[in-house]
Amino acid sequence: MEKTYEMWPIIGASKAKRIKWSAPQNQISWTYMKMLREGNKTMKVYNINPYIEVYQFRNNMYGLFNQNCDGAGDVWQYLIIGPKKAMLIDTGFGLGDQKGLVNMLTDNRPLIVVNTHLGPDHSFGNVLYDKVYCSEYEVDNIKNRLKPGAWDYLFDENGNNIWLQFDRKDLPEYRDYELIGVPDGQVFNLGDDYDIELVWMGGHSAGMSMFLDRKGRSLYAGDDICSDVIGCGSGPKEGGFYNEYCNLTTYRDNLAKLVPRMDQFDYIFPGHFMVNLENFLILNILEALNEIIADPTCFDYTVEHVRSTGETRVRMHKFVKGFGTIAYTENGVYPPKS
Ligand SMILES: [Fe+2]
Repeated sequence: MEKTYEMWPIIGASKAKRIKWSAPQNQISWTYMKMLREGNKTMKVYNINPYIEVYQFRNNMYGLFNQNCDGAGDVWQYLIIGPKKAMLIDTGFGLGDQKGLVNMLTDNRPLIVVNTHLGPDHSFGNVLYDKVYCSEYEVDNIKNRLKPGAWDYLFDENGNNIWLQFDRKDLPEYRDYELIGVPDGQVFNLGDDYDIELVWMGGHSAGMSMFLDRKGRSLYAGDDICSDVIGCGSGPKEGGFYNEYCNLTTYRDNLAKLVPRMDQFDYIFPGHFMVNLENFLILNILEALNEIIADPTCFDYTVEHVRSTGETRVRMHKFVKGFGTIAYTENGVYPPKS
């Protein structure tokens, strides 16, 4: 019998409805999301895009909540409005008129679009825009995945949705766009002194990057921080580029460099689940990473994980103090020997 995981439904405002998950969701994160999605007073869904729940987390910052079109966890995009320009962090699967929604929320400001990493839930909407920026280590990884037919895996052989119910016609068609790789430390200016810096991390993927909003004092962490599971250190991805950065040691080294800069941000907004986390969390993540690197057998439990390709793999989970877990595989702890 096929393994499915059910979570008690959240009465969300999005038009899309969950069919099934590929892995059980973290109980605490699930309850948090239920409270947020059913009770947050800022939440709005606009006719222009009935799939996206819009939450206002700051005067100049929105969280755009997307249900994940595949069986993985639901996703946050972030929209930061600066004095002259706006920045969109991640592009989801591109479901519905996302560009129209963003233009409405920013009052048609010029838009800088960036990706934290290659995940389809973070980058497939790139085709809606003319120009997108990401880490120099992620360009070829995104190009490798986002191409004609990229969305086909969301449907079975009869054309039915597998994980999430939505109208297939609301997905974009593939089109060419400009994907620009930038180095660690690249600064994007939204006008006046409103700077946002790309901080390269690796770990979850080779080019996985965080975005540090120095003015808003927030860190947008992508998938290297997640209250459900920090799925890092899965090891080199087959056919991937810069595979030497897909491991916990690379992530640990880069996260350690961020610790002395903790006075530049107060809050963390990850790519999934709980948001508005305190900056001190990175110390606990660093501690867990150091423990795993010192002894990869120090995990707390293992979980068999069904991937979107249908194959299963077992991942080791290590608790982060006061938070979720880091999930890793044996070949995802250390950089490969060259
Ligand atoms: Fe993700």
